[in-house]
Amino acid sequence: MAFEDVHFRYAPDLPDAVSHVTFMVPADSTVALAGHSGAGKTTCASLLLRHWDPTGGTVRIGGHPLRTLPLTRIRQLIAAVPQETYLFNLSIRDNIRLARPDATDTEVEDAAPAGERGTHLSGGQRQRIAIARALLTGAPILVLDEAVSSLDAESEAEVDRAMRTARTGRTTLIVAHPPSTLRTADTVVLLEEGRIVDTGPHDKLLARCPAYRRLLNEGA
Ligand SMILES: Nc1ncnc2c1ncn2[C@@H]1O[C@H](COP(=O)(O)OP(=O)(O)OP(=O)(O)O)[C@@H](O)[C@H]1O
Ligand SMILES: [Mg+2]
Repeated sequence: MAFEDVHFRYAPDLPDAVSHVTFMVPADSTVALAGHSGAGKTTCASLLLRHWDPTGGTVRIGGHPLRTLPLTRIRQLIAAVPQETYLFNLSIRDNIRLARPDATDTEVEDAAPAGERGTHLSGGQRQRIAIARALLTGAPILVLDEAVSSLDAESEAEVDRAMRTARTGRTTLIVAHPPSTLRTADTVVLLEEGRIVDTGPHDKLLARCPAYRRLLNEGA
């Protein structure tokens, strides 16, 4: 999957939300998008899902420009875990099964965090349900937009475990906030005001990129 000099603005009278964005995600690897609020992370994830077409440049999957792929095909190829997860007033089992109504109970349980109940789910539990939904679709590409809300250490560890399982054998674009997630990505793309500041493994960026160090120090 690749972004090639991608530009996007939400309306003709608005400035570019992202510009000159170029990076690639090799098959089965994980690229994390990092940056402050408003940097353009969710915009990139949305362009990959073809919620919009770029104003300029090209997004490709398997070499094909996204514009040439039917939306139904894109939905088969990509499973998305959105920044905010919408849950219906159903059991956890049925909430997960929404991703694939014909899934068996075993398939749902394989994808799910162990059978919890209750209507007041924590942020971490909601994210794990979203991840389970994505797993159940079996799509080879995963787009994860991590929620910004901070989780307690235990939930963060559980979400982290669920994400690692989900990422195994998939090509993953992840909008990541905590260093724990950024460290596990093969490559981090650092965005500032819609532009790429630097691209590289977490350790390398930490060593050479002051903007990356600042971002992590602020605990974003
Ligand atoms: N639907 C929209 N209409 C107009 N402008 C938007 C829209 N969504 C985002 N923007 C603008 O585009 C820019 C990038 O926003 P984006 O949501 O991609 O940031 P982000 O990096 O995901 O931030 P966060 O960490 O807060 O989720 C911001 O200037 C934002 O105000
Ligand atoms: Mg966002």
